[in-house]
Amino acid sequence: MLDELNKIKDSATLELQGISDLKALDDWRVAYMGRKGKLTQVLRGLSDLPIDQRKAVGSAANDIKTLLEAELKGRQQAVKDAKLAGGLDAIDVTLPGRPVSLGRLHPTTQMVREICDAFSAMGFEVVEGPEVESDYYNFEALNIPKDHPARDMWDTIWINRDQTIPTLLRTHTSPMQVRVMEQRQPPVRVVVPGRCYRYEATDATHESVFFQIEGLAVDKGITFADLKGSLFEFAKRLFGAERKVRFRCDYFPFVEPGVDMSIDCFVCGGKGCRLCSNTGWIEILGAGMVHPNVLKGVGYDPEVYTGFAFGLGVERILMLKHGIDDIRHFYANDLRFLKQF
Ligand code: DAH
Repeated sequence: MLDELNKIKDSATLELQGISDLKALDDWRVAYMGRKGKLTQVLRGLSDLPIDQRKAVGSAANDIKTLLEAELKGRQQAVKDAKLAGGLDAIDVTLPGRPVSLGRLHPTTQMVREICDAFSAMGFEVVEGPEVESDYYNFEALNIPKDHPARDMWDTIWINRDQTIPTLLRTHTSPMQVRVMEQRQPPVRVVVPGRCYRYEATDATHESVFFQIEGLAVDKGITFADLKGSLFEFAKRLFGAERKVRFRCDYFPFVEPGVDMSIDCFVCGGKGCRLCSNTGWIEILGAGMVHPNVLKGVGYDPEVYTGFAFGLGVERILMLKHGIDDIRHFYANDLRFLKQF
């Protein structure tokens, strides 16, 4: 009887090695360990054996069963692994495809485009300029001479302060006003989107890298009414046709007079809420009539030509529009934030 068992074990093991598909493995299992399987028969016949053999044959049969089951498992796994590693079956065409995650434009890029589109529709051309600037364009040519206290308004990241031509990372897009005017004659109508840099201790409303959009219009006979009309039109496009605007005096060295422009709060309609700090108004940009010194500096005659300029912070507009409470979200690269736009 023990001999017979060993034969079953040997033939079963040998057969198993040759099997390489799951269906055949199951047939093998049925042939040896199924209801009418060879091993099962032996176990069934135990009761017919004389009592002194029963124990030895029983335990040998059980050991073989355990062994064969373990070998079967191993073989099944090996067959599955081989399938995954290659061969036709490696591709299960019934599996749903993996979703392709599509990229999208960064919210800042989207807003830059929206704003530039609004001004393009009014005849402004979009131009760009260098982020590494000279002291001359960033300050001097904008009527901000050395040691002028207005320089305190911009926390500058210097690249080389001591050279004949000191260089820095531009603190605003305003230097492009000068670069553009140097290169062409009026009429000039441009908007300039771009990155700006400041030496900031960052907090919820300050980042050391951010985007601005500069605007400039110079021609014969441009007045403050043109400034108001253009910027009012822009505000309505971006924040809704029912918006009201307010201009108040402000100081920027390169414009005279200088103003800040606010819109009535689009959340509370001007009644006063958290967004507008209960004032009913939200400041969105700085602007003014181009200072005669800036015009003279580029060779335009301020008696003949006048113009207006403006500058706005792109992230600030986005924060207002979408109720974002921390500017640092924009460049933290957190997809949970970015995917909302
Ligand atoms: N460059 C200014 C800043 O960064 C913003 C600004 C204000 C730009 C008034 C202008 C302007 O063109 O007219 O704070």
